[in-house]
Amino acid sequence: MSIEVIKSVRTMQHRSSVLRQAGNSIALVPTMGFLHEGHLSLVDIAREKADIVVMSIFVNPTQFGEGEDFEDYPRDFERDLSLARERGVDAIFWPDADEMYPENYSTYVEVEELDKHLCGASRPTHFRGVTTIVSKLFNITRPDIAVFGQKDAQQGFIIKRMVRDLNLPVEIILGPIVREDDGLALSSRNTYLSDSEREQALALYRGLQAAKKMVESEEVDSNIIIEKIRSFFEAEPDVQKDYIEVVDLERLAPIERIDQPALIAVAAYVGTTRLIDNIIPKLSDCCG
Ligand code: PAJ
Repeated sequence: MSIEVIKSVRTMQHRSSVLRQAGNSIALVPTMGFLHEGHLSLVDIAREKADIVVMSIFVNPTQFGEGEDFEDYPRDFERDLSLARERGVDAIFWPDADEMYPENYSTYVEVEELDKHLCGASRPTHFRGVTTIVSKLFNITRPDIAVFGQKDAQQGFIIKRMVRDLNLPVEIILGPIVREDDGLALSSRNTYLSDSEREQALALYRGLQAAKKMVESEEVDSNIIIEKIRSFFEAEPDVQKDYIEVVDLERLAPIERIDQPALIAVAAYVGTTRLIDNIIPKLSDCCG
């Protein structure tokens, strides 16, 4: 099957139902485009798990706050199309904003509590935008499976909770974080970094690696771990901490001691670019 580009909700719904009636399973990989190896690794997982892989490409306005980079977010559909085609995506759902949010749009999906900390604290309307668009994408593409990255760990856990709470008939899979050779997590936003910022951005990965080593050598005090990561940020002139947190995996709320499955997550401004990264020490198989 050659790749198909679908712009309308009705066409996508129709295409999915025909494919399902013919006995195919569908995996969805939702993205905002400007694809990199992180996104494409999710396509590989999707292809293993389902007959048909649908990728959505939509820079979703409702998940950007005021003053954030919605307008400037990098976009290059032709490049995305050829990368997706090479990787074996069957269909790309690529709607315009008014197709997804027609006039008088008024319905939002909100997962409570899990959005109070981490990125939710500094981006208070972000996850409501994410859960709303992801619900819509599920209803439009009707996937059996949807694949997200652990790179956005809070997003992944929130979507899993939404699916459980609303009994959505889709299985959520979280794929591992894909990194550059030197450890920097791939992100569409890395394109904003100058050479010097790119170098300094390694503080996120290096801080997390140091944290991981500490946990492996039985350090359980969250504050000591947080301080260690902070020292990596403070060594770089253009790295400004947004948060460094150790949270549990059920409520995504801060924990004093790592005596249960935990997520260590960081966000920092490198110059004006906000980057995030995380690790889940001791529990690498939590996200399957
Ligand atoms: P976007 O940032 O484009 O990311 C799309 C998917 O790719 C997400 O599931 C994200 O976690 C994953 N991803 C990004 N970088 C990755 C990396 N380095 N390794 C592995 N996976 C990576 O996340 C969004 O878009 C949006 O919020 C979306 C879910 C599409 C809703 O609008």
